[in-house]
Amino acid sequence: MEEQVPQEQSSRGLGTPLANAPIPLKDIPTEDTTRIGTGNAELDRTLGGGFAPGSLILLGGDPGIGKSTLVLQTLARLSAAGVSTLYVTGEESAVQLKLRSQRLQVAGSDMPLLCETNLHRILDHARKIKPTVMVVDSIQTVYREDLPGTPGSLNQLRECTLELMVFAKSSNCVVLLVGHVTKEGQIAGPRMVEHMVDTVAYFEGDRNHQLRILRTVKNRFGATDEIGVFEMTHSGLLAVENPAHIFLHPNMDAAPGSVVSCTMEGSRALLFEIQALVNQSNYSVAQRVAAGIDQKRLTIILALLEKFAGIMVGGSDVFVSVAGGFRIADPGTDLALAVSVASNHLNFPIPPQTLFIGELGLAGEVRPVSQMDLRVKEAARLGFKNVVLPREGKVNKYKDLQIHRVSRLENAITLCQKDF
Ligand code: TYD
Ligand code: MG
Repeated sequence: MEEQVPQEQSSRGLGTPLANAPIPLKDIPTEDTTRIGTGNAELDRTLGGGFAPGSLILLGGDPGIGKSTLVLQTLARLSAAGVSTLYVTGEESAVQLKLRSQRLQVAGSDMPLLCETNLHRILDHARKIKPTVMVVDSIQTVYREDLPGTPGSLNQLRECTLELMVFAKSSNCVVLLVGHVTKEGQIAGPRMVEHMVDTVAYFEGDRNHQLRILRTVKNRFGATDEIGVFEMTHSGLLAVENPAHIFLHPNMDAAPGSVVSCTMEGSRALLFEIQALVNQSNYSVAQRVAAGIDQKRLTIILALLEKFAGIMVGGSDVFVSVAGGFRIADPGTDLALAVSVASNHLNFPIPPQTLFIGELGLAGEVRPVSQMDLRVKEAARLGFKNVVLPREGKVNKYKDLQIHRVSRLENAITLCQKDF
């Protein structure tokens, strides 16, 4: 046996003519990025003004949330508007899709439908049909026969996504991939698929509720903070164009633990209700359950309440939830969360037409949040009577709306125990 070191190709690149020379930024022509409107205001808003030609989009969400419904509705609408489309399904049979299309009242559409999971055959059809928008439902069912691994495996996912991306870029076709999510809520398969695509959108919401939210977490063609709000009805998904109060119960009663707060989603202020339940624990370790709110955030808020407001919940189970299956990440809702726990623990109700805005610092101070005036304005529009705000931060005056300023968490709680 004799060791041989493979020779490095030192001549790599030498002598070959330059294929691609650097160009000054100012000389690059601005491509005419005409967007393809989807005919659905909420979907357009989430995507940043419609589909960008040649983009690869990943749509993820829990099973049964409505991904297939949304893409079928969208394609049928585009098809009716004269846009060339192709719907590839690997999950459902043509008959199942026909049944769904009847519910959606688009059964008469001439949209081409392909039941196929072999990627090369899919691409052969796509090259013939030359669609402007193509859907692959779902990426986990597609496979390449020349590669090892079952459909949905790491290798297959990566190679199939890559090939679809090359197809999208070379043909300028919008390719929409539907993706399954794992129990943890991430798109199944490694994150890698998310890195490869241009846009990643998640469909959220509670299957038991009517409301659905489409949120982009990555978008190479627009902002990522806009959301689209939809309602699942018996005839498909409807865009909800004025969602400000949709997360609020219309006849909300003053109950201990129910508090209204506001989150900014892109350019929109959404009001929603937080509920808390604090109960003497029967377990050795008290339970903390948060739905729609980050669990760690709840732990911090409980610590702040103990330290600064003397609200001892260490031996109690604490459950908090955001009504309507909505998920909140905005720190501007800290104060509302704290008041909600305090209100349930100390058993004092908060009048329903009261809005709480403020972020809590670790020293117990109430900090100003972004776009405060927009939030207050929305509350005024919905007929709110009181709003509790951080001491700093400019807001305009609104008729019939009383503004209370608080600088610390304990002040906010004392204020709530008095009558507004
Ligand atoms: P679907 O689009 O199949 O979900 P996914 O592709 O994300 O798994 O959604 C199916 C659910 O939506 C199912 O529970 C029934 C409900 N649905 C309606 O309420 N109305 C409708 O018009 C349709 C088509 C479905
Ligand atoms: Mg589906």
